Amino acid sequence: MVKLFEKASFRGVELRNRIVVSPMGMYSAENGYVTPFHLVHYGKFAMGGAGLVFVEQTSVSRKGRITNGDPGLWEDGQIEGMRQVTHLIKSHGAAAAIQINHGGRKSGQQRAFRGNGPLTDRDIEMGEERWTPTGPSDVAFSDGYGTPVPLSLDGLAGVRDAFVAASKRAVLAGFDVIEIHMAHGYLLQSFLSPLANFRTDDYGGSLENRMRFPLEVTRAVRAAIPSSMPLFVRISAVDWIDGGWEIEDSIVFARKLKELGVDLVDCSTGGNLRAGSTNANLTRGPGYQVPFADRIRQEADIATGAVGMIRTPDLAETILQENRADLIFMARQMLFNPFWAHHAAEHFGLTDDFRGWPEQYGWWLTKWGGALRANGESLMEWQRFADAAE
Ligand SMILES: Cc1cc2nc3c(=O)[nH]c(=O)nc-3n(C[C@H](O)[C@H](O)[C@H](O)COP(=O)(O)O)c2cc1C
Repeated sequence: MVKLFEKASFRGVELRNRIVVSPMGMYSAENGYVTPFHLVHYGKFAMGGAGLVFVEQTSVSRKGRITNGDPGLWEDGQIEGMRQVTHLIKSHGAAAAIQINHGGRKSGQQRAFRGNGPLTDRDIEMGEERWTPTGPSDVAFSDGYGTPVPLSLDGLAGVRDAFVAASKRAVLAGFDVIEIHMAHGYLLQSFLSPLANFRTDDYGGSLENRMRFPLEVTRAVRAAIPSSMPLFVRISAVDWIDGGWEIEDSIVFARKLKELGVDLVDCSTGGNLRAGSTNANLTRGPGYQVPFADRIRQEADIATGAVGMIRTPDLAETILQENRADLIFMARQMLFNPFWAHHAAEHFGLTDDFRGWPEQYGWWLTKWGGALRANGESLMEWQRFADAAE
C-alpha cells in the first residue's frame, strides 16, 4: 500500500492523500485583498491532485503584514475573495487550508521579488507603506530592520483577539483547516525564542513564560472555531543558533499544543536571528527537517507534517512508511510542477486511467493511456505514443 495516497483524517476533515501544498507567500494581494492571480495560483494545485492546499501566510492585522502584498483577514470585506479561492480548491477535490500570521518584528519588509529586505525610500516612492513593527522586545530582527515597539499587555490582548477574528473569518470563507504560524521569526515564534524575547514580565524569561502568549493565542483560536475543524501549528523546531530555541523546547511545546486541541505540528526550522548572527548550524539537504517531525511525533505523541527539500515520490513515501510524519508538505517543487501528485501516482503505478486528473484533461490522457498500459509503457510516455498514433 502506498501511504502517500492513503486518505488522512483530522477531526471532521478527510484528505484524499497526504500531499500538502505548503504555505507560500505570493506578495500579490492588494490592500490585503486576494486577486485573480490567487484564484489561478491556488486552483491549479487542487487540479494537480494534492490532498490539502494551503493559502499563504495571511495577516490577522494590517500592521502584521510581512509585506504590503500580503493577503489579510482583518476585515470582513476580505472574506469574499477567500471564499472564491476555497470554492475553487474544493471543487477540484482538495481540502483548503489557510495559515494565519502576524509578522511581528519582521513585518513591513519588501515583497520577496523586490528584494526581501527592509523597505527602502525607493519602495516608499513606489507606493509601499511603512510602519513601526511590534514585537516581544525592542530588539530589531537584523541590520536595517525597524526596532519593534514591545507589545503592552493590552497590545497582546489585541493581537490575540485579531487571531480569533481572522480565524472566524477563515471559517466563513470556507476553509477546512487553519494553521497558526509560529515559525520563521514572526511574532509568535519571536515570543518563543530566547533570541528575540527579552521580556521580564510573565511573557519572557523561562520557557514556560515564553510559551505563554503563543499558547494563549492557540487556546483562544481553538475555542473560536468549530470542534470539527482541524487546527495545525507551524513551528520552527530549532533556531539553528547556539543559545536559541532547541528541539527539546519544541517537544515540550508540542505536548502543550496537543493538550489545547492542536491536531498537527508542521515542523519547519529557522527564520529567526539574533542581531548580527546567521543560521550558523544549518546544513540543508533532502528531507533535512524530517528528524524534527520524527522526534516531535514520537515524543509528543502528536501528528506531524514534514517539510523541506522533499522532492521525489520515493523520499515522501519513505518518510511516511518509516512513520516519521503524517503529512508531506511541499513548496518549491509544487511551483515547479503543480501536477506533482498526479505524477507521483503514476510513479507508483496507481493510475491506469488518469483517475484524479481534472476530467477536462483526463479524457484525452485516458484515450492514449489505456493503450500505453497495454504496451506496458509508462503514462509519462503519452506524448511519444500520441505522436506515433497520429
Ligand atoms: C515562495 C515561497 C514563499 C513561502 N512562504 C511561506 C509562508 O507564507 N509561510 C510559511 O510558513 N512558509 C513559507 N515558505 C516556506 C515553505 O512553506 C517551505 O517550508 C520551504 O520552502 C521548504 O520546503 P520546500 O523545500 O519544499 O520548498 C515559503 C517558501 C517559498 C519558496
